[in-house]
Amino acid sequence: MEIDELLRRAAEMGVCVDRGTDLLRGKVMGTLFFEPSTRTRLSFESAMIRLGGGVIGFAEPKVASVEKGENLADTVRTVENYADVLVIRHPLEGAARLAADFASVPVINAGSGAEEHPTQAMLDLLTIHQEQGRIDGLTIAVVGDLRYGRTVHSLAYALSLYKVKLLFVAPELLRMRREVVDDISARVALEESADLAPLLSEIDVLYMTRIQKERFADMAEYEKVAGAYRLTARDLEKVKESMIVMHPLPRVDEIDHSVDRSEHAKYFKQMRYGLLLRMALLLSILG
Ligand code: NCD
Repeated sequence: MEIDELLRRAAEMGVCVDRGTDLLRGKVMGTLFFEPSTRTRLSFESAMIRLGGGVIGFAEPKVASVEKGENLADTVRTVENYADVLVIRHPLEGAARLAADFASVPVINAGSGAEEHPTQAMLDLLTIHQEQGRIDGLTIAVVGDLRYGRTVHSLAYALSLYKVKLLFVAPELLRMRREVVDDISARVALEESADLAPLLSEIDVLYMTRIQKERFADMAEYEKVAGAYRLTARDLEKVKESMIVMHPLPRVDEIDHSVDRSEHAKYFKQMRYGLLLRMALLLSILG
């Protein structure tokens, strides 16, 4: 599978970080970020720089001509003159697809509204594979905002390519999007629940997510589900010794800081895998 080859290459990227490389010297990556980002943008930029390439772009649409009313297509038509690959994050679903339609260079989706975040899913797979030694055979709980959280949509599709059991844990209001469930349920075993506690002892990978406050049209609805899940060090007393806790970050209050010191916590390491995965991805596109 193509994705396994990418994971294999990503796992080898640590050497390139340590020694430095110029495999992408002369190549330029353009980053178009219309929404806030810390990890995704900086890991993409770091990945490109560590491969010897250059980076241009904006992290905030207010500083680009978008602020003067330029549309996405024209922004893409502009930046493609200056870059060999574009990385785009945008609040609208379908934005990356639209950019790809207009661009003559490859476009990487770094988050399209509440829809998808495919490179996060790839780094999540890498984290699972490296920390558990396999993906097949695992029971993976995806917890939190499964309606507006884009990382969980991409992750669900990615995991459905493997032989896993998926537990979707969310409040009624934030259940996994029906189209995702419909698309993957024939391929993979899945169960839905609102209650995390009874499941804790059977989980191999606990993937926590933030309630996506900014995507709620009605703050009263948000208030109903805010703080729905909060993992603490005490919950870890019930879990398998090998269970890992992941989170795409940023976290709000869904993982208590008491969990950070535990051996189960892999969300900080996950960020490092993000760098390695994006290096492998850029190399496979531009190398
Ligand atoms: C996520 C995102 O932007 O979708 N962050 C990330 O890229 N690691 C998760 C989130 O914002 O909750």
